[in-house]
Amino acid sequence: MSAHTKIELSTLPLRTEPLLPRFDSAPPDPAYLPTILIVDDIDLNRRLLRGILKVTPCRILEAKRPSAAFSMLDMEKVDLIVVDMVLPEMSGMEFCQMVKSDRRTQLIPILMLTSIQGIENEVAGLESGADDFLLKPLRPALVRTRVGTMLRNKALTDSLEEAETILFALAQSVEHRDRYTGLHCERLATYSIALSHALGLPKQEQQALFRGGYLHDIGKISIPDSILFKRGLLTEEEWDIMRQHTIRGEQICSPMKTLAPVLPIIRSHHERWDGSGYPDGLTGEGIPLLARILQVADIYDALTTARPYKPAFSHDRAVAIMLEESRRGWRDPELVPLFAEVVGRHGELTAGEAGIQRSLEAMRRELSE
Ligand SMILES: [Fe+2]
Repeated sequence: MSAHTKIELSTLPLRTEPLLPRFDSAPPDPAYLPTILIVDDIDLNRRLLRGILKVTPCRILEAKRPSAAFSMLDMEKVDLIVVDMVLPEMSGMEFCQMVKSDRRTQLIPILMLTSIQGIENEVAGLESGADDFLLKPLRPALVRTRVGTMLRNKALTDSLEEAETILFALAQSVEHRDRYTGLHCERLATYSIALSHALGLPKQEQQALFRGGYLHDIGKISIPDSILFKRGLLTEEEWDIMRQHTIRGEQICSPMKTLAPVLPIIRSHHERWDGSGYPDGLTGEGIPLLARILQVADIYDALTTARPYKPAFSHDRAVAIMLEESRRGWRDPELVPLFAEVVGRHGELTAGEAGIQRSLEAMRRELSE
């Protein structure tokens, strides 16, 4: 059978297996139903698939062509795509690649239907981004079970994403309370990713730094305002409480497995090279590298933005202060000069808010690819 042969679903007998999976006997609110997008140019195939999924509580959208599917994806929140491997305009695999390379749609699971049996075919499909395969002729019970599982996984991903979004929003509100300058988190993420680029760190670590830029101080949510905003010097007891923000931040984020790579950044971003930092008094390379990177970025940002107690220093002055701290043994002696060079080299990073936003958006796109 050639790669372009299609089987008409209408020619296949519908089976009468138990209708699985069932969700709930109460009719669900249509507004909360998961949405499935069927992409197939053959009307009968789409109609049959719709018939198979009739007992699955979901909303079904149909597209005859990839171009129509992309228009729907632009407008609708889709939870699962069921796509035939053979399509007009492009192959099902090319369609998958396009869906998975777009940050807005990459988390939508794709179930690919194919009439071509064989491991090679399946591998090529999975490599293109399909999450699962079903071989034609379709068995209704199998289709419903597979679709039900994929929708449940998607719902789980959504709830994790929501939890993460809430944490990020919380972290930003902490920053906005505490800081006098906007875009602090964005600048930290941008500076530290630029440095991690120069160090050739893998994407996963860059992703952790991106998140760390936002989440590193989330523990400050547990610090009383009377300490956080105190004018004048903190007492020793108040410092003890203030230092707890690293540990509290780690505790807040640790239930989320996806944030595991960010935890060392949150816990260790106030350690010092010579062991005089907190909370663990780590020294030298015993301090996690990602925490050292974020720390360098944080200090640079504090120096180059205006605060109530100081004006914004120039790039050169900030770098001079950081190099001096390095000589004193507080900072990583290799990272600081490299950071100064990297930030100095990327004019955009020191060109105000618009430059930071542009760099950040480019980095975000790159990390999601
Ligand atoms: Fe901090």
